[in-house]
Amino acid sequence: MESDYKDLIPQLDKEKLPQHIAIIMDGNGRWAQAHKMKRVNGHKAGVKVVKQMVETAREIGLKYLTVYAFSTENWGRSDYEVNYLLKLILDSLINEIDELTNNGVNIHFLGSKERLPKGYEKKVEENCRRSWENSELFLNVAMNYGGRQELVEAVKKIAASAVSGELAIADIDGNTISDNLYTAGMPDPDLIIRTSGEIRLSNYLIWQSTYAEFWFTETLWPDFTRSEFIQAIIDYQNRKRRFGKRK
Ligand code: FPP
Repeated sequence: MESDYKDLIPQLDKEKLPQHIAIIMDGNGRWAQAHKMKRVNGHKAGVKVVKQMVETAREIGLKYLTVYAFSTENWGRSDYEVNYLLKLILDSLINEIDELTNNGVNIHFLGSKERLPKGYEKKVEENCRRSWENSELFLNVAMNYGGRQELVEAVKKIAASAVSGELAIADIDGNTISDNLYTAGMPDPDLIIRTSGEIRLSNYLIWQSTYAEFWFTETLWPDFTRSEFIQAIIDYQNRKRRFGKRK
């Protein structure tokens, strides 16, 4: 409930906010099935929750929010579902973009350009360009995203620089990889949330999640609330992160 989440906000330690939260929005299909609807209605219901999470992220002063909208594996779904999802994501963005931009949100799509319908990328770029001046909240929409694909593309770019003599092989390190990912220049996620009871990463931010904290809930994405979101952050703030060190 709205009031519940407002009551939880004062429990947050503003000094210890995660910089970057990444979400795996799972369970739309099961939600639709439970409500005797078509799977795609679950995705439609899920968009409303994305909007609420973006508002909440702004409200608490989060800097980076990344949502997994469409994975490279999602092409394996029916043509109907794939086309519905692609259109839903683009249409939702187009509908919300002015409000998001006016509210200081900077929007980027993370993912491969391959296989997306013709003109898709151009349309996204045209719509998002004005938001790129903003820096209040960075919203990443992982779209046609796969962690392995991202690493393959990074390796290709790095190899090309090495072959051209621009980059010495001895100089390749972890930063070289990070700088060639779709997330170049962004902090790694501190907290990864997955809904619907599944406990796996599903090819999401596999390089960037090395030291992320994980938070799993049985709640299906369309039922995920602002309260649960804040609860996940409070829980994160009570964890001891050592990054492999003793202190
Ligand atoms: C996983 O549920 C969810 C998806 C594959 C799609 C998520 C996309 C949205 C909520 C739309 C996002 C829109 C914007 C603008 C970012 P599932 O279908 O795998 O559910 P199931 O496991 O119950 O079948």
